[in-house]
Amino acid sequence: MNVLLGITGGIAAYKTPDLVRRLRERGAEVQIVMTASAEEFVTETALQAVSGRPIRSNLWDKEAEASMSHIELARWADVVLIAPATAEIMARLASGAAADLLTTLCLATNAPVLIAPAMNHVMWEKPAVQANRKTLEEHGVQILGPDHGSQACGETGAGRMLDPEKIAAIVCGPQLLAHQGEGLLAGKKVLVTAGPTREPIDPVRYISNRSSGKMGYAIASAAAAHGAKVVLVSGPVSLTEPSGMDVIQVMTAQEMYTATHENLENVDIFIAAAAVSDYRPAQASQHKIKKATEAMSLELIRSEDILASVAMLEDAPFTVGFAAETQKVREYALGKLAEKNMDMIVANRVGDDCGFDRDDNAVEVLWRDGGQKFESTAKTELAELIVQLVAERFQATRGAATQPQLTIVSSKE
Ligand SMILES: Cc1cc2nc3c(=O)[nH]c(=O)nc-3n(C[C@H](O)[C@H](O)[C@H](O)COP(=O)(O)O)c2cc1C
Repeated sequence: MNVLLGITGGIAAYKTPDLVRRLRERGAEVQIVMTASAEEFVTETALQAVSGRPIRSNLWDKEAEASMSHIELARWADVVLIAPATAEIMARLASGAAADLLTTLCLATNAPVLIAPAMNHVMWEKPAVQANRKTLEEHGVQILGPDHGSQACGETGAGRMLDPEKIAAIVCGPQLLAHQGEGLLAGKKVLVTAGPTREPIDPVRYISNRSSGKMGYAIASAAAAHGAKVVLVSGPVSLTEPSGMDVIQVMTAQEMYTATHENLENVDIFIAAAAVSDYRPAQASQHKIKKATEAMSLELIRSEDILASVAMLEDAPFTVGFAAETQKVREYALGKLAEKNMDMIVANRVGDDCGFDRDDNAVEVLWRDGGQKFESTAKTELAELIVQLVAERFQATRGAATQPQLTIVSSKE
């Protein structure tokens, strides 16, 4: 795979020799194009040594243009990656500017463009930068990161360049296959529910649960990365909406039920990761309930079971449920699998120290005649493994669906 790596003038440019090495370890050919500012942060000599190719930086380099013109370079690339991407390059790309070699190449190429922004967190949060991010996403540019953490300026926040290992894995992994229409779920439609629901008691109070939505969002992103057309129905969470999919925001279990059924047309796989409130107040008070009595009781009624309502349909999609339990996790999950006619269930122990509102999770995925355990892993990584497993089971039970042939990359047990 030919990776055209654009390096711009951010402090994270010092990490790019490592990034080049990791891309090459995965079999990529890397051609580097640097901006003038990038040369202040990392030397051409180091980059030439690790990439094994002369570095390009000047649009008006007569000698370089004679050997491989910028148009040939734009055609050569299977993917354009800009890492780190400064606020400045994001602005130039969003406006369609082409005054330098890197932006000219981005306009002249048909290859997917991925950028890994890196900047001070105050810069990243500025409305102008966020507007450029949004424009770039709308133009089909994939934004990788940024990460949250300590920054070169000594402050902490969102703006760190994604780890070179993660960037290399994304660029050389399923994301690219998806761009090329070859992902495990290419051509498939996947509906995912995520997050909690909120059942109003009165205008200021509600019943909800501790679900953060992180697992469902990670699953939706992994499915999209594998080429699926994804619809994400999300309860109220404080996560950034993932790009590259339709996101429908809902509040209550009833709204989630309606949004799910309204978007079921042509859905191949339904993954119900939301923690839907089983009960809701029989009646939400129109006004704030006043503190008048020593005790009060609230009448609750059962909410519709979204998962079962889909799994029981005559032409039900391949249905994957989540069972969040605090005890007898496997036993309850197997019961739900059969009772609700699901194809797979992800059994998930939840409690103070596991499951909800954390970045990692440990689960057991079960189906009628098998199962697989995954020990505690980052939710993003776990989502990738679950999606691979779902794609494999989907292919096994619903026919010749996915190309290429599937393999489970890593099983934790
Ligand atoms: C020491 C130093 C560090 C910088 N780090 C960043 C950075 O991390 N991210 C960023 O967006 N800009 C950073 N800048 C500003 C850019 O270098 C500047 O906006 C430049 O015009 C970017 O040009 P380019 O995108 O063509 O490389 C930094 C500037 C200096 C002097």
